[in-house]
Amino acid sequence: MDATAWVETYASAIEHSPLAGTLRRSASLYPAVNLGHLAGLVLLVGSIGLLDLRALGAGRSVPFSALSRWLTPIGVAGLLLEIATGVLLFAPDATALIHSKIFLAKMGLMVVGAANAILFVGMYGHPTEPTPLAKAMALFSLLVWIAVGGLGRILGYA
Ligand code: HEM
Repeated sequence: MDATAWVETYASAIEHSPLAGTLRRSASLYPAVNLGHLAGLVLLVGSIGLLDLRALGAGRSVPFSALSRWLTPIGVAGLLLEIATGVLLFAPDATALIHSKIFLAKMGLMVVGAANAILFVGMYGHPTEPTPLAKAMALFSLLVWIAVGGLGRILGYA
């Protein structure tokens, strides 16, 4: 079985799972999960976005290192909530979504954003002041997470 057929088989299994059926049938469950997905977005972009802006020079009176120690775990919690709720939003419509360029671009960018964040912490930890490269990574992070959120929003209309 080639990779595409393999992914299609699993997507179909997910779409026909009891969990996906429950999400499809319930009038309140899917919107509730969607709300959780938005809460995750707020946690993620509200924390990492602020940290990125601080790295780029905003709010210099706040020490970067302390802000980073405080906001990074909140960002991680936001990303985990996004993944958990995202899987639930994906399940009822899995076969269509795996063929959606918007969905695939969103997943790809999410991986790139997470890799950028892991690399940042791995290279710099929680630095006193970010280096020029760290600032470039912060700008990249800001753009990537805004794009992921934007693609998610477009997905609802596609
Ligand atoms: C950083 C990670 C993520 C962000 C920032 C994000 C953001 C968003 C946003 C803003 C929406 C629109 C919600 C609305 O309009 O009510 C959305 C929708 C959606 N997301 Fe995500 N998302 C993320 C991760 C994921 C993951 C990992 C999955 C699946 C595995 C996923 C699946 C979906 C689906 C299927 C929708 C469409 C929901 C609908 O049609 O109403 N998302 N996302």
